[in-house]
Amino acid sequence: MKKLLITLGAISIMGITPLLTNATPQSDLEEFRAYFYKKFPGVKLQDYSNGIYALDKARRFEWQESEEFPAYEEAVEKGEKMFAKYGMKSCFKNGGVSIKQNYPYFDKKTGKVRTLEEDIMACLKNNGVDVKAEKLKYKKGKLAAISAYMAYTSRGKKQNVVIPNDPAAMDAYQSGKTFFYAKRGQLNFSCADCHVYNAGKMARGNLLSPALGHTSHFPVWRKKWAAKSAKKRGGESKPFDGLGTIQRRYGGCNKQVRAKPLKVHTAAYNNLEYFHTYMSNGIKLNGPAIRQ
Ligand code: HEC
Repeated sequence: MKKLLITLGAISIMGITPLLTNATPQSDLEEFRAYFYKKFPGVKLQDYSNGIYALDKARRFEWQESEEFPAYEEAVEKGEKMFAKYGMKSCFKNGGVSIKQNYPYFDKKTGKVRTLEEDIMACLKNNGVDVKAEKLKYKKGKLAAISAYMAYTSRGKKQNVVIPNDPAAMDAYQSGKTFFYAKRGQLNFSCADCHVYNAGKMARGNLLSPALGHTSHFPVWRKKWAAKSAKKRGGESKPFDGLGTIQRRYGGCNKQVRAKPLKVHTAAYNNLEYFHTYMSNGIKLNGPAIRQ
């Protein structure tokens, strides 16, 4: 990690003024996009859904090859089967098809942000599924496979997070925004330090992706995660092993700066997801996707 600090020594913090009081979500979004357009003039808005592969040709080539017979394919099929087996169609608008672009949303009844994974979990429970016995947990595994199936049916839809004119919704958005720009962990880095100001630079051999488009392709499939799950099982791998939801990734990025990862699907991460996803409004969904 020391090395990381050295690499990021020359942090540039110009160009974005994140905490202006009179900013609206819409003006934030415009500013966010404009920042990246200026930084990477050759990259088109829709290409930001491809993370680091929008920036690096060599990596992009390798990645495109891996997407031809993608490692997540079987997991998506399993997700579809579980979706049917657990009778989940009835829980969602449009039978759960082509709806991921509307997540996360502000739920007026509870005054809180709701994520897709929470709606999946609630649906399972409503339908009498014994989630413990069936090992349906947040972040990965079977639940992530259901989420991956729903993402798959939503490919091509433009991200469309709505911030209704409601003080509680604005508060949720603001809290997510503050989280995104706040420094944390022993290394004292904010999400923005790595994924805005230093996007396109290297940190410990990793190219840092732009935060614009970050949320379009989740859940993702990572070799690292697949190996970890298989190892736990003594080497036997399952199709959905490599999958992780966006909030699993938040935990990993918090750990990178030696901050304690937070509990998933509680207010802090849900509000972060609300802000983070809103910033990618207008970008077409292309999940699930393979990532390093
Ligand atoms: C110390 C630098 C650092 C910080 C701080 C950091 N990340 Fe990351 N993040 C990484 C690296 C490295 C990767 C893997 C390469 C990439 O895709 O950027 C990554 C990947 C990601 C990805 C996956 C990108 C993709 O295309 O799938 C998301 C989403 C993400 N980070 C969000 C966040 C959020 C939100 C925060 C703040 C809570 C954060 N990160 C803080 C370094 C960081």
